[in-house]
Amino acid sequence: MKKTHWSMVLLAVLAVWLPAKTWAAPNPVNTPTITVHADKVKTRVSPTLYGLMTEEINFSYEGGLYGELLRNRSFVGQRGVAYAADEPIYWTPLGGADISLDGKTPLNEALNVSLKLDAKGASDSHPVGVSNPGFWGIAVTPDTTYTVSFYAKAEGRGGPITVALAKASGAVVASASLASVSGEWKKYELKLTTGALAVSKDNVFTLTTTTPGKLWLQQVSLFGPTYKDRPNGNRRDLMAMMSALKPTFLRFPGGNYLEGETFAQRFDWKKTLGPPETRPGHRSPWNYWSTDGLGLMEFLLWCEELKMEPVLGVFAGYALNGEHVSSPEELAPHIQDALDEIEYVTGDVTTKWGAQRAKDGHPAPFALRYVEIGNEDVFDRSGSYDKRFSAFYKAIKAKHPRLQLISTMSAESTPSQRPDLVDEHTYAWGEGQMYEHVNDYDHRPREAPKVFVGEWATHSGWPMPNLKAAVADAAFLTGLERNSDVVLLSAYAPLLANISHVGGSSLDNSMQWATNLIGYDALKAFGTPSYYVQKMFAEAKGDVVLESTGAAIPKWTIDNKTFPSLYWVVTRNEKTRHIQIKLVNRGTTPQPVNLVLSGLKSVASRGTLTVLTADDPEAVNTIDDPARVTPKTVGFSGLSRDFTLTVPAYSVSVLDFAAR
Ligand code: AHR
Repeated sequence: MKKTHWSMVLLAVLAVWLPAKTWAAPNPVNTPTITVHADKVKTRVSPTLYGLMTEEINFSYEGGLYGELLRNRSFVGQRGVAYAADEPIYWTPLGGADISLDGKTPLNEALNVSLKLDAKGASDSHPVGVSNPGFWGIAVTPDTTYTVSFYAKAEGRGGPITVALAKASGAVVASASLASVSGEWKKYELKLTTGALAVSKDNVFTLTTTTPGKLWLQQVSLFGPTYKDRPNGNRRDLMAMMSALKPTFLRFPGGNYLEGETFAQRFDWKKTLGPPETRPGHRSPWNYWSTDGLGLMEFLLWCEELKMEPVLGVFAGYALNGEHVSSPEELAPHIQDALDEIEYVTGDVTTKWGAQRAKDGHPAPFALRYVEIGNEDVFDRSGSYDKRFSAFYKAIKAKHPRLQLISTMSAESTPSQRPDLVDEHTYAWGEGQMYEHVNDYDHRPREAPKVFVGEWATHSGWPMPNLKAAVADAAFLTGLERNSDVVLLSAYAPLLANISHVGGSSLDNSMQWATNLIGYDALKAFGTPSYYVQKMFAEAKGDVVLESTGAAIPKWTIDNKTFPSLYWVVTRNEKTRHIQIKLVNRGTTPQPVNLVLSGLKSVASRGTLTVLTADDPEAVNTIDDPARVTPKTVGFSGLSRDFTLTVPAYSVSVLDFAAR
């Protein structure tokens, strides 16, 4: 056996120690200097600065967060999505089954078109039925129990029925049977339990019978384990990834999804309540069907589970096709709808909508502070938002004076009513554009309404953001954090994207909007470099921003515009007295930076340094390579009141240390 010589051990120790040591060195001359004035607090950091924004886009819920594993469970499919045929899309006949949509045998008013299955030729040796591919596959893991439920009705006595998870080849992974199906609609529930097997998403769901005859099916559903085991709940890995961002709020239900393409396709919250099989569902403006299985209550439970406060968007009488109302009479029912919605969220059980919430399983009211009236009403060319905003504002404030009401336009655009906050969206098409926004809030008049940066992102990289985008994101966030007396909330958008089938204009495109925070397929999920920037900033938020100044900051040029190549913000946690220096280097080479800490009696000699970088600014994370660009944390020694830190090219660093 080979012996390890002591010199090899020493070398290994040095290899770990040296990189940290070489980062800290005496001050070279002519290097950029950042001076932290630790005795001067610039502002408090808004506790709600980092949150999430969500809507049904990119199969965020259907085929994403919502735990339903079957696609088109209620046989609505693409009806209602203009260009599609009236057929049981995503359901494939097995064994010669004759399948069709039947509007004469409804389950109920909401789900009024069923799947009619004529199991001709079925026998014990020849099962006949249907299969479903899920959302670009069905994730199957070993030793896992799945819940199958469906409504069925047979002509005469039907059954037996077997449900299964199977390979495309037909090989069964797990199955369960029920003996018979009655002649009346009835709900059936079965469990499928897998044994030892390889994790995969190359699976289908099948439902078959061995008896010839007609069968009607509705709400055919398959759930795996959900977050906190909540029935009708959310996918576990995505919830865990969001939780790691320490989000303080969730803005829902949109985005365009709040408004809908037409009034009829808006997020009509009352139709998203109650047992899932009583929800009709609706078309998302992103061109696919939403079952509304993730409805208003589920948004609220999602908030509760991740300890986020809701930022509730209420429909404000404008749809994406320009349809709008603005007279008091026309606005009245929509205002009432918003008041009812607020009552559903916050009212006690003696109120009409509070009682409905209790009936829906949640007697305790949810805390609510922020309500946003509409979404991006700047696109309403009729100029009706001033009237609409002011009517909603007055009615809501009259009943709920403590609510903070958010306008989707600037305060100048709503002269009839000053908003409590304004929602500003900053999408940068290329990194250069984002650097133009870094100082957006430095000179914002402090007496103006506070700001919610409700949607923002740097677009660079496809389909998901690359390191270059994440570095620009981080530069933007230094501006938000530095000004978080003005910017109270912010949320990157969009949050989620199913990237199973990206591209083209095909009906089967899983992603409608490139550049999102978290990507996934049926089985796996990954954080983008932008996700890790959010995580680094949220984890090191601090309580107060300390004053800091820079000198000899290098510059770089893009599109004939020159920008600094270093960005930073310095915060302190008032309880632990730890200081966080967030430092962003857009430079293309490693950059030594002198850090001078003034106004401190003592500085710990060691801290931690977390760095996000890669060898290529175009680097991205993917399903198969999810950790190419992830932050690495190392111990950092050599701290003093005056030291040098060398940060890599294209990097985001957080240095955290104790100081008094
Ligand atoms: O985030 C994607 C879309 O961008 C949102 O739905 C909309 O509000 C904005 O235009």
